[in-house]
Amino acid sequence: ATGTEPHPNSGGVRSGTRAAITAPHLRTDRWWLAPAATAAGLLAFVVYSTWRAFADTDYYAAPYVSPFYSPCLAERCETMRSGPNWEIFGGWWGISPAILILIFPLGFRLTCYYYRKAYYRGFWASPPACAVAEPHKKYTGETRFPLILQNIHRYFFYAALVVAGILTYDTVLSFRDEHYAWGHMGLGTLVFLVNIVLIWAYTLSCHSCRHIVGGQLKHFSRHPVRYRAWQWVGKLNARHMLLAWASLVSVALADFYVYLVASGAFDDPRLF
Ligand code: FES
Repeated sequence: ATGTEPHPNSGGVRSGTRAAITAPHLRTDRWWLAPAATAAGLLAFVVYSTWRAFADTDYYAAPYVSPFYSPCLAERCETMRSGPNWEIFGGWWGISPAILILIFPLGFRLTCYYYRKAYYRGFWASPPACAVAEPHKKYTGETRFPLILQNIHRYFFYAALVVAGILTYDTVLSFRDEHYAWGHMGLGTLVFLVNIVLIWAYTLSCHSCRHIVGGQLKHFSRHPVRYRAWQWVGKLNARHMLLAWASLVSVALADFYVYLVASGAFDDPRLF
């Protein structure tokens, strides 16, 4: 066998219009390492964030509010006296208020072009890696329900801008001490600062953002401001994957920091 006869399974990527290669793939490197590491990293975040989202406790330690729980949209987080407190869901909301918030950053990341690649490869093996045929018989891409819903990414981007704005506000409020006097800076403030820089960098590096900033123009020369902004966003966009991971880790760390302080496991060291 030369390895190029038509594959007995003629569906999907084995169809007649594709290269007739019988070998599962011709790669000799450890191609599985990247999707396996990606899946492990994403799984770790899913486990951690699910625990924290449903924990419904230890998300506030003056002046810090966990990014998973801000803004507060239900009455049940009334003990939270830092950060935006809009109890628009009132008292009937019986489960963790984090669920009301996390829909937006979660939707943003789930529909993100990079994360799509990451979890299609890591969890669905569709495809597992470059030049490794996927095991599925059919491939419809994102042309049908439910994956066609990935197209709402742009709207999640708008929501992500609001979320980043709120987390910026929380970061500003973290420059107070536990009695809400301004001029304080704790280790938590630093954690929040790093997190918000990474959240903004990730949000602005979004492919939808790049299109909103510089798309649908016929002449860049007639739009110098947008051209400049597009170049800047483009530089961030080139690092989108890195920023996706860095901000995922930093938001989990910011939440974990608040958890440690709120649960009494750790005292926030004061820097000044
Ligand atoms: Fe990744 Fe928009 S493409 S956040």
